[in-house]
Amino acid sequence: MTSPLRIGVLGLGTVGAALVQSLKSNADGIATRAGRAISVTAVSARDRSRDRGIDLSSLKWFDNPVALAQSSEIDCLVELIGGADGVAKAAVEAALKSGKHVVTANKALLAKHGSALVALAEKNNVALNFEASVAGGIPIVKTLRESLAGNHVSRVSGILNGTCNYILSRMELEGLTFEDCLKDAQRLGYAEADPTFDVGGFDTAHKLSLLTSLAFGTEIDSEAVYVEGIASIKPLDLVMADELGYRIKLLGVAERTATGIEQRVHPTMVPKHWAIAQVMGVTNAVNVIGDVVGELTLVGPGAGGNATASSVLSDLVDIARGIHVPPLGVPSSALTQTDKAPMQRHEGGYYIRLTVRDRPGAAAGIATRMAEQSISLESIVQKRPQASRAADPAGKSGNPVPVVLITYATSEAAIRRALDAVGADGHIAEDPQLIRIER
Ligand code: HSE
Repeated sequence: MTSPLRIGVLGLGTVGAALVQSLKSNADGIATRAGRAISVTAVSARDRSRDRGIDLSSLKWFDNPVALAQSSEIDCLVELIGGADGVAKAAVEAALKSGKHVVTANKALLAKHGSALVALAEKNNVALNFEASVAGGIPIVKTLRESLAGNHVSRVSGILNGTCNYILSRMELEGLTFEDCLKDAQRLGYAEADPTFDVGGFDTAHKLSLLTSLAFGTEIDSEAVYVEGIASIKPLDLVMADELGYRIKLLGVAERTATGIEQRVHPTMVPKHWAIAQVMGVTNAVNVIGDVVGELTLVGPGAGGNATASSVLSDLVDIARGIHVPPLGVPSSALTQTDKAPMQRHEGGYYIRLTVRDRPGAAAGIATRMAEQSISLESIVQKRPQASRAADPAGKSGNPVPVVLITYATSEAAIRRALDAVGADGHIAEDPQLIRIER
């Protein structure tokens, strides 16, 4: 057996600790499969004294992450501290320039600097592997980069953030508040250090930008992703979705359209009978459509220490085996610019929840504004509380009541124009809730 692959682990949080633990407990099997052992020789983290439940006594400790990255005692840096810039970027760049392979779970770093880092890795003839950065334990990076390399992919979409799916699932099934569910997600180690990245949709957008590049051979362009998060979703939206036969999921979608590649992240109504609607809790799912393979869906744990460590292990075994492919599937010099499709041109069905001032002519006025934009309504439901019915039997009070519209397929631009006009007419008391429908 050849000499071990010596790795330096930067960051000993939930994932780092799980990685060190699993490298130890699965050492024999990993060495047999990889043809050589993979050993952690050095580590660096913020707090040396913290008890992580793992024995670090035989490992060299670096206070300076960049010194770890450049150390002659490692062949490969595993970066698990996160963050788009700062220490993570400095350490990854230092490792690549020093001829070390890099494995990272850092989607924020790659979404912002991925194209440059990939070029740097290629220039130095080292690997830059990032399976753990998208969808936790699901091997979607390898699937797109290697298994589907002979396909033209037309669409990749999915539930890419465990925290949001966990929150939406528990809000729906247990009637809990958004805040309580978020606290639990943080306690369980699913959420990012700043959970705004999760609930604001940015974590999904970072991951989607990597999948887009892998699927379409384009430069990573996270700025081109349209992003909406889940913070505006109210319990009533989940109740209405259920009544209408849908579930609400935060989806990331990258798709070739007639106007270019659409990259969008937003809460989405998906029909309950779809496979992706069955994906609950912290589980992620990624659906790919390729011209040769057809449609496939991968489902698995999207966050958490062990799931993410499993993907890091896969990258490490590839490096130990000497498998070396372009990080984005095509050489960085062959990546093309993203041909961006503007969100205003997006076409689909819409769920619109309006807080309507309940008085004669309100519904007709709203329907007129929709008709002016050639928007066809599939259904319209007014949810009037019992108490308001008793207080205002003739329905003339102007008290706010929720009204839900479902449209047939139309364009984002038409919906925006219609809602601007409805707002200007004074029919609504709050900003509309808009949720796109996939069907
Ligand atoms: N915060 C992320 C999530 C962790 O909730 O999915 C995995 O990237």
